[in-house]
Amino acid sequence: MTELHAVTAGGERVSAVLRRERYEPGAVELLWSAARVWRLFPEIGTTGTAGMDALLRAWRAELDAESPGEDSACVVTWPSHDAEAIRAFLDHGLAPVTALATRTEPPEVVERPGVTVRQARPDDFAAVLDLALEIFDYSSLVALPRREHTEDLLAPRLRTKLEQDTGTVWVAEIGGIVAGLADCSWVDVTGEAGAAELLPPGSWGYLNNVGTAREVRGRGIGRTLAAAAHAYFHERGAAGTYLYYNPPNPLSSVFWHRRGYRPLWTIWEVRPASLLR
Ligand SMILES: CC(C)(COP(=O)(O)OP(=O)(O)OC[C@H]1O[C@@H](n2cnc3c(N)ncnc32)[C@H](O)[C@@H]1OP(=O)(O)O)[C@@H](O)C(=O)NCCC(=O)NCCS
Repeated sequence: MTELHAVTAGGERVSAVLRRERYEPGAVELLWSAARVWRLFPEIGTTGTAGMDALLRAWRAELDAESPGEDSACVVTWPSHDAEAIRAFLDHGLAPVTALATRTEPPEVVERPGVTVRQARPDDFAAVLDLALEIFDYSSLVALPRREHTEDLLAPRLRTKLEQDTGTVWVAEIGGIVAGLADCSWVDVTGEAGAAELLPPGSWGYLNNVGTAREVRGRGIGRTLAAAAHAYFHERGAAGTYLYYNPPNPLSSVFWHRRGYRPLWTIWEVRPASLLR
């Protein structure tokens, strides 16, 4: 960890903690993260664009002394609605690659003739893995670079989850064929670390991976899956549901907002880290 300090043109002092993270081959984090991450935690008070800009300049100068390599990123997670900070992030080459969005409304009732949603079973493994890989393929077009080993990173976790029968993975079938996936889980938000830095305390339903097979998108499968997950978590007293989506994803960004999700945090990122301006 390094502390960064900066002063705005108007003489206001700001600071940040800079944390360096490294993920070794095989780490599940590599599904969405660069292998080496420079993560900034700004403390800018009410200094707005000027304060964030001064800190990002200090961050850039700090990186001049390092060699981040290709598989690296500068990352900062910041409240989605802070427009003044957005100006500074864009000016320094960061992109709004991911957003954390929450939904606390009661579940909607969705029934589509011909679409059946049921909890996934261990024998759905192959179909579930195919759908999960399709979601990653699509995301690689619009957000995160595809990893060579995505399948190896995903498969063991998915297999175990289906065998453990957590009840929080759903598939949608059309004509008896699995055509959609909602891989979800419970996340207990307590204390101050992990998800507690981003969400109010409580038990949350987390929609981890949701996707519909390419050929049958736009027929209500995603909607039916989302409604099933929302109903499940709501009936069991969840504080709400949350998910990460990629604002540049032309399908999911529209889809989740229509389902009642609102962005709370935006994860700004530049890869490789050396491209921070
Ligand atoms: C996002 C996604 C899961 C939505 O699933 P879906 O089964 O297509 O969803 P639905 O059919 O229920 O709803 C899609 C919406 O787009 C509209 N739509 C119309 N034609 C469409 C088409 N050809 N393709 C996609 N959406 C279409 C639908 O009318 C619907 O609008 P609505 O919200 O007003 O009802 C799906 O597009 C997908 O798998 N995308 C790729 C992977 C991905 O981005 N996953 C999410 C990661 S966070």
